[in-house]
Amino acid sequence: MKKSTYWKIAPFGIIAIAILFLIFINPADPPNAALFIGRFHSMVVHFPIGLLLLAILLEALARVFHIEHLASTIKLLLLAGAAGAVAAVLAGLFLEMAPGYEADTLSLHKRLGIGIAILSFIAYGVRLLDAPPGSILYRVYAGALVVLCSFLMIGGHLGSTLTHGPGYLTRYMPQVFRSALGLGLPAQDWAARMAATADAGIYSDLVQPILDSRCISCHNADQPRGGLALDTPEGIEEGGEDGPVLVAGLASESEIMRRILLPPDHTGHMPPEGKAPLTAPEATLIRWWIDEGASFDQKVSEAAPSPLVEQIFAGLDLPEHRTGIFALEIAPADSTAIRAARATRLAVISLGENEPFLQVRCASASDCLNAEQTAALRLIAPQVVWLHLGRTEVADSALAVLAALPHLTRLRLESTSVSDASLVHLSELQYLEYLNLYDTSVSDSGLQHLSALPSLRSLYLWETDVTSEGVEGLRQALPDAEINLGLTLPSVDEDTTSAL
Ligand code: HEC
Repeated sequence: MKKSTYWKIAPFGIIAIAILFLIFINPADPPNAALFIGRFHSMVVHFPIGLLLLAILLEALARVFHIEHLASTIKLLLLAGAAGAVAAVLAGLFLEMAPGYEADTLSLHKRLGIGIAILSFIAYGVRLLDAPPGSILYRVYAGALVVLCSFLMIGGHLGSTLTHGPGYLTRYMPQVFRSALGLGLPAQDWAARMAATADAGIYSDLVQPILDSRCISCHNADQPRGGLALDTPEGIEEGGEDGPVLVAGLASESEIMRRILLPPDHTGHMPPEGKAPLTAPEATLIRWWIDEGASFDQKVSEAAPSPLVEQIFAGLDLPEHRTGIFALEIAPADSTAIRAARATRLAVISLGENEPFLQVRCASASDCLNAEQTAALRLIAPQVVWLHLGRTEVADSALAVLAALPHLTRLRLESTSVSDASLVHLSELQYLEYLNLYDTSVSDSGLQHLSALPSLRSLYLWETDVTSEGVEGLRQALPDAEINLGLTLPSVDEDTTSAL
């Protein structure tokens, strides 16, 4: 073979090896090599973005100024951009195995990335045909470039959100645009506002502006959603359908505060789903106002600022307010305890670089939670938040250890021999959000142990022995939980109509 031929097939070889590697490694327990390749994603990803945007720009210039000789440059840029996009997607798929990315953002970012790779190849292919302006093919090409451009923008933005946390792009955005997007004031702007008003009132200068921009579109005298108007002091004092929303002096007892601090995907969270949650400074200021007595005319200078409020007035960033287990202060696990657990063939992975939390699964499906492993698990119990026992031969009796994992948030038990009686070990897990019981023999009597789990949001009961009545009972006990039954179970409505 000629030397140049090797060069031509080398990229395909690399891609094939990467895909094989992807198929054969276990994403829940990735080897270091996979995580190493993944780290290249954020470097590689800039090449296709630059190349493709340049191709689009040149194409636009070529059309507007009728520059013919750019065609071959544009084709080359599109091909190089498409190849770069494939490389970025592959590296991204490896990076995804590192825990700690926000699932919804990640999934959209990933789909956009794959879309960009496919679209850029299509654009390249169509561009090779040199379709004349006005032809259908030409329009397809132009359309593909427009879509490609918007995918690049949105995908890039989501990528920065994943690495730098939400609000990265909007942090220094002028407040006019932030308000238009429904975003509140960052801490810095609060400091500027405080400096500008010598005699600021806590309610009039701090709290009311927050309510005005974030709440009163739905809570005003004309349209008091939930019976609550937040545009005047009278409305606030009156409360809503369910009674008062404020307990002066006690923010933690106040319905307003409870609603603001619920996890954003909770149906009761305010502002409701789809709207940006209050920023940490905004929530902190409202809390401070209520704790100080929820007065409508107290001056800032008359109250004692809490340490967090002082931080806001100094223009410092606050840590994002965290909910669920993340609001707890938990010390990291002892590294020898983690090593001991790994020695028993438990796969133990940290949930994020600065998090104490751990994700655990059995390295062997046939030998899962033996006596040695349960003992090791107990030594890292406060830190274990994700536990994956799905599709293993874990003994039902070994599940007693679950009661000793107080901060468990995700538990997978699908396709195991878990019994109804064993679910009692879950009944005290107040942070459990996700429970997968797919393909087990769990029945209605097991569901009873789940009915008081306050945080449960996703429950998988597909291919189990539960009945529609049992599920309906659980739905009433846990209105916020999404209960997934697949397509097999007749609903209660069907039962009643068939009786007619
Ligand atoms: C997009 C519309 C919308 C926005 C914006 C909004 N709410 Fe609501 N709010 C509702 C609806 C609808 C209800 C009634 C349903 C419910 O109770 O969840 C409600 C109910 C409430 C209740 C319970 C009232 C009661 O007695 O039942 C409180 C408290 C509340 N909101 C506070 C707030 C606060 C504080 C903000 C701003 C941070 C806010 N809401 C922003 C729509 C909104």
